[in-house]
Amino acid sequence: MDFKEVILSRRSVNFFDPEKDVPENLIREMTEMAANSPSSYNLQPWQLIILRDAEEKKKLQQLAFNQPKVSEAPVVFIVLADREGWKAGHPFAEKNFKEKCKEGSAAPDNYEIYIASCQKLYGEDVQKQQAFACKNAGFFAMSLMLAAKSLGVDTHPMDGFDHEGVRKAFRIPDNYWIPLLLAAGYFKSGQTLSPPKWRKTFEEISVRFD
Ligand SMILES: Cc1cc2nc3c(=O)[nH]c(=O)nc-3n(C[C@H](O)[C@H](O)[C@H](O)COP(=O)(O)O)c2cc1C
Repeated sequence: MDFKEVILSRRSVNFFDPEKDVPENLIREMTEMAANSPSSYNLQPWQLIILRDAEEKKKLQQLAFNQPKVSEAPVVFIVLADREGWKAGHPFAEKNFKEKCKEGSAAPDNYEIYIASCQKLYGEDVQKQQAFACKNAGFFAMSLMLAAKSLGVDTHPMDGFDHEGVRKAFRIPDNYWIPLLLAAGYFKSGQTLSPPKWRKTFEEISVRFD
């Protein structure tokens, strides 16, 4: 599938075939493809909880306005955005610094400057830190949907869920925000996909304020 076909054929699929599993290697492949997404300062403030177990998906469905696709899809990702990836000692802030030193874009004795840069990018309050984390995790989630489609796997993004309920049920630490859930699987044959939705035109997207 060429890229144009991938982007034009991706749809939010409401009906997944519960009998058709997504092989583990495809889950890994789409995740590794999506890992190539850009992120500010390469901080990659995203992670995934990958659910396959029927009981866990049922528990999530109940917290997601009972949307049947949460249980019907063979795989559901809980997308996580890390609000604290700027902190000194954070494992991925540390790894990023080490890698930057290796590639020569940071000097080992400039750790404080590096952490100050991370903090500045994230912003000075929790609201800005959350926006930063969700912005970057959103790029990752979009890449994941397109990567899935390129591998023949359909997806459905969802923000219809009880955020604090999901946090509690899956014991997600407070440093994470959950920007969305993402169901993945194969469109159920016999079902009809709704017609493509309207999209803003180029003229509607392009704007100036002068
Ligand atoms: C962040 C996000 C959250 C969404 N949440 C839901 C949801 O909870 N339930 C749902 O049925 N659709 C949800 N959608 C799907 C949108 O309604 C859908 O993407 C949009 O109507 C365009 O349709 P398409 O994806 O098939 O092109 C969500 C989409 C996004 C990007």
